[in-house]
Amino acid sequence: MKLLMTSALLAGAAATDLLIPLYQFPANNGQAWAPIEQAMTENLKLTHKIIINPNNGPGGPGQGIEDPQYVAGSSALASHPNAQLLGYVHTSTDGGTTRCNVPWDQITADIRTWSTWVSRGIKIQGIFIDEAPANTANSCVQYMQNLTNFIRNDKDLLFPQRLIIFNPGGTGTLQPYYDMNPTLIVSLETCFVTPDKARVAFDQCNPEFPNWERYDHDGYGSSIDKVLFPNIGELNGPRSAILVHGAHDTNGPSANLDVTEETLRNMINTVVQRKIGATFFNAAGYHEFSTGPANIVTVARLLNAANTGGGRA
Ligand SMILES: *[C@@H]1O[C@H](CO)[C@@H](O)[C@H](O)[C@H]1NC(C)=O
Repeated sequence: MKLLMTSALLAGAAATDLLIPLYQFPANNGQAWAPIEQAMTENLKLTHKIIINPNNGPGGPGQGIEDPQYVAGSSALASHPNAQLLGYVHTSTDGGTTRCNVPWDQITADIRTWSTWVSRGIKIQGIFIDEAPANTANSCVQYMQNLTNFIRNDKDLLFPQRLIIFNPGGTGTLQPYYDMNPTLIVSLETCFVTPDKARVAFDQCNPEFPNWERYDHDGYGSSIDKVLFPNIGELNGPRSAILVHGAHDTNGPSANLDVTEETLRNMINTVVQRKIGATFFNAAGYHEFSTGPANIVTVARLLNAANTGGGRA
């Protein structure tokens, strides 16, 4: 029994998890999140790291833990054995232009609010830190180190696993942040689609800023090999996450891929083969999970198959 558990844990540690930024309201008493539950039910070996975000954080009066719909939706998700819920916080007061300037008392108060969800029976397993710095300016390294120490060590916090994910949302000088040994850093967040096809509902691919890495437009694995690894180093892959939104239509010249299930399978297989810690592909932004081939149920199935089908040595 002990041996079995050890090997199961090791297998789990080696897999690529699904990281779901769930910035959607749990309407109909949580039923809006049924596709996420379906993905978990159908893929029991796949760990679903799910970011709960009522309002750029745990929410104010009447929101989040004080909203019966949020309680219903989050409780349902947390009851799945392959779920790891994370509470959202962010470090920027101006939408990401300046990083690590949310006052310490404010960001730690939000983290303490997330901890109250655990005492209310909803197992939040850690914190997702959005608008995290992607460079070492303005004392950000010290700020993030302090925040990491707080989440990891504060005696009053109740998160059972104390997971910590940074989302710098762009490339930059990340090694000092990897050195803090967070669970994951989202070190490639980009879009699949070309600018001319972007901006469908909730699409976060903004044509006004068209210079995103069109995911794998140079062939399967090319975004990891030519963009991600040269930036972060291959050894950081298992502690890295890749988020690809705007997975609809085509990614343009060169490989010129259309989003089909086959395209998704090949992209996801290369993510697993390169031992990336977590990934997510979605048609729109983070508010809607049922559109197109890149719906959450299909993406979870393909990722689970890649993890268990020998995609990883
Ligand atoms: C980090 O914590 C140290 C020790 O408590 C403190 O002196 C320092 O001001 C903090 N730095 C930041 C940027 O929060």
